[in-house]
Amino acid sequence: MLRSAILAAARNSRIESVVTHAPVSRSVVRRFVGGPDTAAAVASTKKLVAEGLTVTLDHLGEDTTDRSQADAVASAYLELLGSLERAGLTKSLGPLTARAEVSVKLSAVGQALDDDGEKIALEHARTICTEARRVGATVTLDMEDHTTTDSTLGILRDLRVDFPETGAVLQAYLHRTESDCRDLAGAGSRVRLCKGAYREPASVAYQRKQDVDRSYVRCLNVLLQGDGYPMFATHDPTLIAIAEDRAREHGKTDFEFQMLYGIRPEEQRRLVRAGHVVRVYVPYGAQWYGYLMRRLAERPANLTFFARALLSKG
Ligand code: FDA
Repeated sequence: MLRSAILAAARNSRIESVVTHAPVSRSVVRRFVGGPDTAAAVASTKKLVAEGLTVTLDHLGEDTTDRSQADAVASAYLELLGSLERAGLTKSLGPLTARAEVSVKLSAVGQALDDDGEKIALEHARTICTEARRVGATVTLDMEDHTTTDSTLGILRDLRVDFPETGAVLQAYLHRTESDCRDLAGAGSRVRLCKGAYREPASVAYQRKQDVDRSYVRCLNVLLQGDGYPMFATHDPTLIAIAEDRAREHGKTDFEFQMLYGIRPEEQRRLVRAGHVVRVYVPYGAQWYGYLMRRLAERPANLTFFARALLSKG
């Protein structure tokens, strides 16, 4: 019921207008969104990089329902990459560690369109990867719900022929993910491991938090034993401590932690001080309302997640 109410609010323009203009919203948005446009996103990135953090930027949009929208999203990424370059933010810390990179949802660049959706998404992703390569940045393909996993990993494989630095995302809540980790743990392979954010059925995903956490640890071990570049995306203190321990045991130093903009900022800085590469995921763009509401609806537990983030700095 809560989910339906949140989704109804997400579609209601009067509620959107009230929420968008309420003073409290502005502080919530500033806390979790890098800014309404490219210039603001670049300014937020500059501040984070000055503090020793690295960044991945996600252009927020509404559902892509036609070709022109997909083209517009791809253009927004090209504009962003050019702006990051001009601001001097794309210098690399290492071959797989750009200071600023971009995260792309294939659905935003056309994957779900009828007739040739996958082809359109692949073409756009290729164009974004080409520009990212030119400016010294990388691209990571966000992972969406389980019905898109095979398609997204297929497009990743195609992209990696020319752009082997392209990052993958795997979700520990899916039963298949330990095996996907094995497939993607090869040399040079950038893999972001997260718990997963969508409501998935028990036929494909673990439902209990402890089962998801156990799967995360198994996947983390597979990635740390491989030759790739793991990117541990979690705010969970237990999993962060386990990742640090296991990395030490395996003698692996080429990996990074990732967290969302505005969530546990003090922990992000503590990990930097401890010598880790930490990447902050910065969503930006005018469409923040839909983004925050959908994150809440996908997982009403996010209501407490955001509330906790607002109340705590750690
Ligand atoms: P969870 O939500 O279970 O929280 C675990 C624990 O973290 C809490 O119990 C608490 O101890 C601690 N915690 C959290 N917030 C805190 C706070 N503010 N203060 C103190 N403690 C706090 N998903 C997806 O499906 N596809 C994708 O492509 C991505 N991409 C992505 C990138 C990055 C960089 C991140 C960080 C996350 C994603 N996700 C994602 C989202 C991910 O799947 C997941 O939904 C969220 O990260 C929440 O999961 P946690 O691992 O943080 O644990």
